[in-house]
Amino acid sequence: MKATFCTRREFCALFVFLTVFVLISVLRHMDILEFQPKFNSTIIMPRVSTHPNEIHSFCTFQPLSPEDALEERLILDSTAWPETPLLPAPISLQQTSDPAHSTVTILPGRKGGQWHVGDQLEVMIQTSDFQGRPKKSGGDFLLASLHNRKLEAGVAGQVVDHLNGSYSAVFSLPWEGDAQVEVTLVHSGEAISVLNRLNREQPDRVYFKSLFHSGSLSETTLCNVCLRPTQQPLCNYTDLRTGEPWFCYKPKNLSCDARINHYEGGFKEKVLNSNEEKLFQSGVNMKVYIRASGPANVTVLPQKEGQPHVKSSTVTSGPSGYYYQGVWRALGGTTVREFTASAISQCLKGKVVHMYGDSTIRQWYEFLNAALPDLKEFDQHNPKRTGPHMSLDYANNILLTYRSHGPPIHFPPMDTRVLHYIANELDGLVGEPNTVVVFTIWAHFGPFPMEIYIRRLQSIRRAVVRLLDTTPGTLVFIRTANPRSLTLYVTINYSDWYTLRRDKVLRAIFKGLKVHLIDAWEMTLAHHLPHDLHPPPPIIRNMINYLLSYICPQNGS
Ligand SMILES: *[C@@H]1O[C@H](CO)[C@@H](O)[C@H](O)[C@H]1NC(C)=O
Ligand SMILES: *[C@@H]1O[C@H](CO)[C@@H](O)[C@H](O)[C@H]1NC(C)=O
Ligand SMILES: *[C@@H]1O[C@H](CO)[C@@H](O)[C@H](O)[C@H]1NC(C)=O
Ligand SMILES: *[C@@H]1O[C@H](CO)[C@@H](O)[C@H](O)[C@H]1NC(C)=O
Ligand SMILES: *[C@@H]1O[C@H](CO)[C@@H](O)[C@H](O)[C@H]1NC(C)=O
Ligand SMILES: *[C@@H]1O[C@H](CO)[C@@H](O)[C@H](O)[C@H]1NC(C)=O
Repeated sequence: MKATFCTRREFCALFVFLTVFVLISVLRHMDILEFQPKFNSTIIMPRVSTHPNEIHSFCTFQPLSPEDALEERLILDSTAWPETPLLPAPISLQQTSDPAHSTVTILPGRKGGQWHVGDQLEVMIQTSDFQGRPKKSGGDFLLASLHNRKLEAGVAGQVVDHLNGSYSAVFSLPWEGDAQVEVTLVHSGEAISVLNRLNREQPDRVYFKSLFHSGSLSETTLCNVCLRPTQQPLCNYTDLRTGEPWFCYKPKNLSCDARINHYEGGFKEKVLNSNEEKLFQSGVNMKVYIRASGPANVTVLPQKEGQPHVKSSTVTSGPSGYYYQGVWRALGGTTVREFTASAISQCLKGKVVHMYGDSTIRQWYEFLNAALPDLKEFDQHNPKRTGPHMSLDYANNILLTYRSHGPPIHFPPMDTRVLHYIANELDGLVGEPNTVVVFTIWAHFGPFPMEIYIRRLQSIRRAVVRLLDTTPGTLVFIRTANPRSLTLYVTINYSDWYTLRRDKVLRAIFKGLKVHLIDAWEMTLAHHLPHDLHPPPPIIRNMINYLLSYICPQNGS
């Protein structure tokens, strides 16, 4: 039976699509807050359409099981961002968000301007454009945190987009004393529309190369997750076990089997015109503080008797921890302790620790190597940045390894034989109770379609489940993504906005599994040191302490 308006095939299809979309939205609605704690996404979700068939026309994604396909749909919907229409050319900043004209106001709260430890602080952010007119729509990307430099204290805030130009940021108040509010405009909604368009239209703007070699012949061709069809045939390196796609143009005189390495190719030039580039100006409209209309700090009074220490918010979940005297204190669960070199050795004694991922997990590997005098790197003559690496402490029977995740990875040349997917590595582990697995996978995925990332994580999750089924004692940790310092050059491919959305996907996919998340996002945001792709040593030290506190709980062995 056809509805009366369903007279043309396209309309019918649209009708069916909308019905399914609404149905899924309604189903999703039920557990959305649990699913995605940092945003009040019930108000954001329905306004966005990211139907995968409309985009990335030259990308092929491996087919999914019905469950995985439904999960992908739900994740894409729940991580969708409010849409800001693309600005008409030539772009003028006039009607885009201007941090200099926007304001932060501390709300008096229920106790009329008095706060105790355990209370919440709420601030209202009103955004305005470069002409000083209040914005009427949402979609800006804001970050909020609370600091006390003297106490080396800090906590991340939760931002809610009211979709009318105003935003709330909610903070837990875990320490007594002064607390300074910092709200940053990372990108305007207009800039985000451009970032979104780039991923849709130019998912190959970061590219890779491979050298092919046989006998006296050598050729180099371009490789990527998504390769534009040309006259040149493709070599299909899709992984047979995980289904991860990877392609290179076929060399003219060599076979696809002659591929010997993989390396960073470069970046397509000029994907934005100079007008569009105006939307990404450090110090003007990218990662700029928004000033307070009144005071920017409050004095937090001692905790009142009977009040819970840090209460979780009514609209969002609370923070995962906070800094006090420079030390990260995780909320809920593990108490983070400080580990000296000998305490680290003691904790890792008899253990095998495998680290997989990008340079942000290699930092951990390097940190432990530097911290432990008896841990010696076994020289496999592999380049520092790419690895794989291995360190041994014979006396304490500790083995520590680092290996890069599979492509896309923008690294110097790597032998194709060391280019492994995390899922396959996990499947190859002979699990034993003293095995610790730590991985991170985010920094190289920004410019590529979200579908690629979702599939990658689903395949890693399957491997984690298999590992935990066969060796229930294995400890699995995931280091989450973190914000970084942004220049135009970095932003176009690796903006914090790309990162944030991938981080939400990761948290959703591993939710409910027996894996421990180390919240690098909040640990970077809550720290007073500037954002950096590779967070500075004080933050790494806290992350390692957090990891070790999990591996060796206080009263454990
Ligand atoms: C925007 O929405 C919020 C939440 O509904 C409301 O408190 C605020 O007054 C609104 N702001 C404007 C300018 O309408
Ligand atoms: C690449 O190979 C995989 C696995 O054999 C296959 O499923 C896929 O369709 C191929 N893709 C292309 C574009 O040929
Ligand atoms: C392929 O081989 C032909 C004939 O030997 C040669 O002319 C051509 O330059 C080669 N092409 C490449 C890309 O090496
Ligand atoms: C990012 O992409 C742009 C455009 O493709 C390119 O010009 C720039 O070099 C790239 N930079 C980084 C750090 O990725
Ligand atoms: C806010 O900070 C300033 C200086 O940083 C300080 O003088 C002032 O007392 C603080 N205000 C409150 C309410 O704590
Ligand atoms: C979402 O935010 C709106 C506006 O702040 C609020 O009225 C509503 O209760 C929130 N929804 C949930 C489920 O928390």
